[in-house]
Amino acid sequence: MRILSGIQPSGVLHIGNYFGMMRAAIALQAEGEAFYFVADYHALTSLQNPKAMRENSHRVALDFLACGLDPDRAALFRQSDVPQVTELAWILGTVTPFSRLELAHSYKDKVARGVAASAGLFTYPVLMAADILIYDSDVVPVGKDQKQHIEITRDIATRINETFGEVFKLPEPRIQSSTETVPGLDGQKMSKSYGNTIDIFGEEKETRKRIMSIVTDSTPVEAPKNPDTSSIVQLYSLFATEAEVAAMKKRFVAGGTGYGDFKKQLFSALWDYFAPMRARRAEILAEPSYVDEVLARGAERANAIADRVMSRVRAAVGL
Ligand code: AMP
Ligand code: TRP
Repeated sequence: MRILSGIQPSGVLHIGNYFGMMRAAIALQAEGEAFYFVADYHALTSLQNPKAMRENSHRVALDFLACGLDPDRAALFRQSDVPQVTELAWILGTVTPFSRLELAHSYKDKVARGVAASAGLFTYPVLMAADILIYDSDVVPVGKDQKQHIEITRDIATRINETFGEVFKLPEPRIQSSTETVPGLDGQKMSKSYGNTIDIFGEEKETRKRIMSIVTDSTPVEAPKNPDTSSIVQLYSLFATEAEVAAMKKRFVAGGTGYGDFKKQLFSALWDYFAPMRARRAEILAEPSYVDEVLARGAERANAIADRVMSRVRAAVGL
């Protein structure tokens, strides 16, 4: 089984990324041949600052490794180290109906949030289809918001197969049901572009401050509170056992505890959860060339497969 996923270096990785994608990706590396990449071509649709692009790409790789990605099992590489993927994107674009892309939620959402409506942003799902198909991927672990992109990928692969014969495997999304969308500090989806994130490797003081700033209603300390609508409870349940979550919910309903206390409890659960990963990150940082070496090795493995698939594709379409 071949597993593939990507993550954009458009900012620093947050706990939405971790529970939406990275945790599943890391667990899956034991089950097959995994390929994980830093989607820098994709990030160019929103990040046009070369220094930030380079720094973020490196940091995403570092943080992914610190969280448990094992480079001896999974190939970790930069998307742009396999430029063949842009050639495949062109070929796929020639069978992709314009109307299918017009229906993509992520395009509409990003434009509504102020990202420039470039041709690149519009054809983003075609490049993503190329990312997936160029490695003959079987399984793609992603957050719920990427589900439609995988459907578009399957649709494009089917069109190629119908037009040119069996060229591509149809990939399956792997969306964990336990990882519904992780809420941000304001209760909306946690997202780099909303400024409502809790970073996986944020500084302690800053992380505490951000957690203390989670938006709540104005129920007084003494009054009972609704645990079912609270993002504090939702976030806590990512880090705590079922019994611990049940205990917090009980204290919500009982009244007498302010939101501040619940937030402190959330901070300490989160801080403990990522402690081993912070330790691993410090070890990696002590070896300055480690990340670059991992990326170079990953690129080599990815290129070998991409070259093979591209020869097959070129032959199939007559190039
Ligand atoms: P992106 O930051 O858009 O590159 O997202 C990287 C991965 O993290 C994708 O698989 C997303 O689905 C996932 N992801 C991002 N934000 C969230 C969130 N708030 N909740 C769950 N998954 C998320
Ligand atoms: N679009 C994905 C995101 O924003 C990142 C991505 C690019 C990706 N190419 C991919 C994810 C291929 C999985 C497979 O999260």
